[in-house]
Amino acid sequence: MISTVAESAIDADRAAWAQRLRRVRAASEALAADLSPEDQTIQSMPDVSPTKWHLAHTTWFFETFLLIPLLPGWRVHHPAYGHLFNSYYEAVGPRHPRPQRGLLSRPGVDEIAAYRRAITGGMLDLIGGADERQWREIAPLIELGLNHEEQHQELILMDIKHVFSVNPLKPAYRPRAATPAPRSMAGPAGWMQFGGGMAEIGHAGNGFAFDNEGPRHRQWLEPFRLASRPVTCGDYLDFIEDGGYRRPEFWLSDGWATVQSQGWQAPLYWEREPDGEWSIFTLGGLLPFDPAEPVCHASFYEADAFARWAGARLPTEAEWEVAAADVPLAGNLGDRGRFHPEAVSGKGNELQQMIGDVWEWTASSYSPYRGFHAVNGAIGEYNGKFMSGQMVLRGGAAVTPPGHVRVTYRNFFPPAARWAFSGIRLAEDA
Ligand SMILES: [Fe+2]
Repeated sequence: MISTVAESAIDADRAAWAQRLRRVRAASEALAADLSPEDQTIQSMPDVSPTKWHLAHTTWFFETFLLIPLLPGWRVHHPAYGHLFNSYYEAVGPRHPRPQRGLLSRPGVDEIAAYRRAITGGMLDLIGGADERQWREIAPLIELGLNHEEQHQELILMDIKHVFSVNPLKPAYRPRAATPAPRSMAGPAGWMQFGGGMAEIGHAGNGFAFDNEGPRHRQWLEPFRLASRPVTCGDYLDFIEDGGYRRPEFWLSDGWATVQSQGWQAPLYWEREPDGEWSIFTLGGLLPFDPAEPVCHASFYEADAFARWAGARLPTEAEWEVAAADVPLAGNLGDRGRFHPEAVSGKGNELQQMIGDVWEWTASSYSPYRGFHAVNGAIGEYNGKFMSGQMVLRGGAAVTPPGHVRVTYRNFFPPAARWAFSGIRLAEDA
């Protein structure tokens, strides 16, 4: 009797994993459903990957790390896909150069859809057929594969936005109602006071986290203040109109060099109309400038320069995480389907929009936490080898899948990157 109860619990557990696998896989496919094969093939810059590449690469991850080593009798789906769809795993072998992903007219979207169906089917066989000893090895890899695929769902949206932005037709990924957004003015940001002292940050306990979020460890914090809301487009326009992009005194040396070499005059996707007004390109098409929206698609260099101009600074990731400890994990995330930050509101007397809308740059470089060790083998390449030359962002954005945000989550990008949904929240010493 006892074993029957235990077995039914195991069956229910497996069924839940199978359901989650189907749901995450279907969500990726839904993001591509309205895109033409041509849309899904273009690579508009080296950082961007074609939609169909994301769909194939997330599938390759399951085939490479689960089906090939662990499903008895599995035959490799296509001998070339390991080379085409490996992203950066040196231990797995050589791969197609990243900047040339957009040159792959073959395999086409139908072949990649068939690849997805085959691997999802194999995964369901693996989930159903593994014995208990195998299952303990398999379950954490499935969870990593699903979280990996959710990361790529955000990348699909970031990347198709860039692809569409370089097209003079300015296509809308999800067209918005034609009514122009009402112009709103944000209230002034307030300062939330935090006392400092010995704090603990990092992931601990149950539930999934990427390896880079742990171990939980102590950090000493001096008293600090954090702005109640993100920096808005209106705030940022004040910086531009005060000569922000022409005054080197606000900029880090590398940032100023980038402003010069790239000709930056505003965040990515801001477009100045012939009448001098600004518009912003979004996944809903080109929209009127709304000064109350959180500024988005700013680089770390721009975030840092804005903060210096404003007489403030960016928060460290430890300050951000301590401040966010009691914030509900809800906000304008990808499930709303808006895929764009929402205007700020409120009186400035509480923390707002910490979760969702825009990833917030921190002043912290992406480095290992004390005690961090990447696991052995190819999976150890997932995060650890990127801990050089990048900055941490926190909080999730309007394109982040719900359930994929945690207060311990460490996103990271190089300081000049602007195609992520990256914004700014100010801090200051208290
Ligand atoms: Fe990946």
